[in-house]
Amino acid sequence: MNYKNRKQKKVQAIEEVLKKYLPEQSGYQKQIMEAMEYSLMAGGKRLRPMLMQETYALFGGQTQVVEPFMAALEMIHTYSLVHDDLPAMDDDDYRRGRKTTHVVYGEAMGILTGDALLNYAFETAAKAFDLFPEKSLVIGKALQVLAGKAGIYGMIGGQVVDVASAGETVSKEVLDFIYELKTSALIESAMMIGAILAGASEEEVKKVETIAKNVGIAFQIQDDILDVTSTAEVLGKPVLSDEKNEKTTYVTLVGVEKAREYVEKISNEAIALLEDFEVKNPFLEELLRELIHREK
Ligand code: IPE
Ligand code: IPE
Ligand code: MG
Ligand code: MG
Ligand code: MG
Repeated sequence: MNYKNRKQKKVQAIEEVLKKYLPEQSGYQKQIMEAMEYSLMAGGKRLRPMLMQETYALFGGQTQVVEPFMAALEMIHTYSLVHDDLPAMDDDDYRRGRKTTHVVYGEAMGILTGDALLNYAFETAAKAFDLFPEKSLVIGKALQVLAGKAGIYGMIGGQVVDVASAGETVSKEVLDFIYELKTSALIESAMMIGAILAGASEEEVKKVETIAKNVGIAFQIQDDILDVTSTAEVLGKPVLSDEKNEKTTYVTLVGVEKAREYVEKISNEAIALLEDFEVKNPFLEELLRELIHREK
């Protein structure tokens, strides 16, 4: 099977895991479960669970202990998008090819859907303790990473500086801080949790964190490029959102051409570090290479 087909199969398998861990739609609060499914199952690229699973495989992981964490991280990522699209933030009406959650369910439910996905993510990840009690130590460590990378020293911290800096010109130093937190942090947690659950050493986990940091920065720069070069049909979300919100991006700072060069350079650094490991996962290497020229 070629890379493209393998990837498609893996995305399908990830979606099955996501469905399995979504809450049943019942009770007076049923509407929130519906909105959770609406936003989560809209069809994103599933990059973070895929990176987690492939890093788990890289270090020899073989059980399903990674699955609740894959679902949990995609829930956290989806919550970050639901809130990122709110009128008070980027105010965008489309996401993953659908009307955004707040447009369909109203703003209050949009806020609550984000809250619900965030909390349910931790309820989901904690299920790993019941499934694999003998792995409690690594599960605890993985939870610590999940919580930290999503929080004020991670994704939320980056979103804070992103929002607070709208309308201002931001220095490259601050922009790198924003990207490292708002985007790299969740990608770091994906790869680090995969490594931790597979029993990788502390040194290996540190190296994985550096690789993922670069992957995340390159991913965000490419996102900024696509915001000015792509179309809403291809992306499934509006283009020119950054200009509308007066955001400083790599594109406004150095232009599209230079931004493309950065994506290539930073991604190649990550791939070189990955190749340094004695253990190998050719699919993961291919995935990182593919991201350099991704079109959505
Ligand atoms: C969008 O992430 C937000 C950024 C960090 C740029 P993705 O581009 O991974 O979004 P989905 O999950 O595929 O919808
Ligand atoms: C958002 O960056 C990253 C998040 C943590 C949600 P953007 O605001 O550029 O993401 P998109 O373009 O809306 O997906
Ligand atoms: Mg944003
Ligand atoms: Mg946005
Ligand atoms: Mg963007």
